[in-house]
Amino acid sequence: MKLRRFKISRDDPGRMAELAQLEREVFSDHRLSASQQSAQRFLRMRKRVALVAEHDGVAIGYLVVMLGSPAHVYALAVSAAHRGRGIGLALLAAAERYARRCAEAITLECRESNLGSARLYRRLGYRECGRVPGYCGDGSDALCFSKSLVSDNLRTAA
Ligand SMILES: CC(C)(COP(=O)(O)OP(=O)(O)OC[C@H]1O[C@@H](n2cnc3c(N)ncnc32)[C@H](O)[C@@H]1OP(=O)(O)O)[C@@H](O)C(=O)NCCC(=O)NCCS
Repeated sequence: MKLRRFKISRDDPGRMAELAQLEREVFSDHRLSASQQSAQRFLRMRKRVALVAEHDGVAIGYLVVMLGSPAHVYALAVSAAHRGRGIGLALLAAAERYARRCAEAITLECRESNLGSARLYRRLGYRECGRVPGYCGDGSDALCFSKSLVSDNLRTAA
């Protein structure tokens, strides 16, 4: 069992600058993101939920999910100093709880070479469902992942 000394809450507009700073830190290596990440842009979108993981009042991770059908995760990042503690997993699990209210599935993309995040998605039950050639800024491919949010019981009953 991992030590979980962090809490996850919905963002408030006052945290924009802090999240932008975290984004710059995490994505200074642009080989990580599937597309041009922009927390600022995503945070201005309607029908989105932004979740912030914090430790001692400081933002150490964030996720932005669009509540469409399917729901779509636009951004996920955890500060390098806090990785490997289950924060990415907890952010995704929280996003799925919100998404379940309006969608039967949740999707996301990740850069083909980003093996760590692909492993995280598979571990949470996401299945690879396609590839977008040249999607990333440098022309490399992105992998598409999808997860059903409908429980097996409900699917059988339908
Ligand atoms: C991907 C990312 C969000 C994961 O966050 P995290 O808090 O470190 O992830 P967790 O601790 O919840 O990891 C859960 C599981 O995911 C997998 N995983 C996560 N990062 C991994 C890595 N770098 N290498 C291998 N497996 C990894 C592991 O299975 C891990 O479980 P384990 O530690 O018990 O083996 C974080 O590494 C990050 O911000 N990376 C840079 C930005 C990025 O790539 N964002 C995604 C863009 S598509």
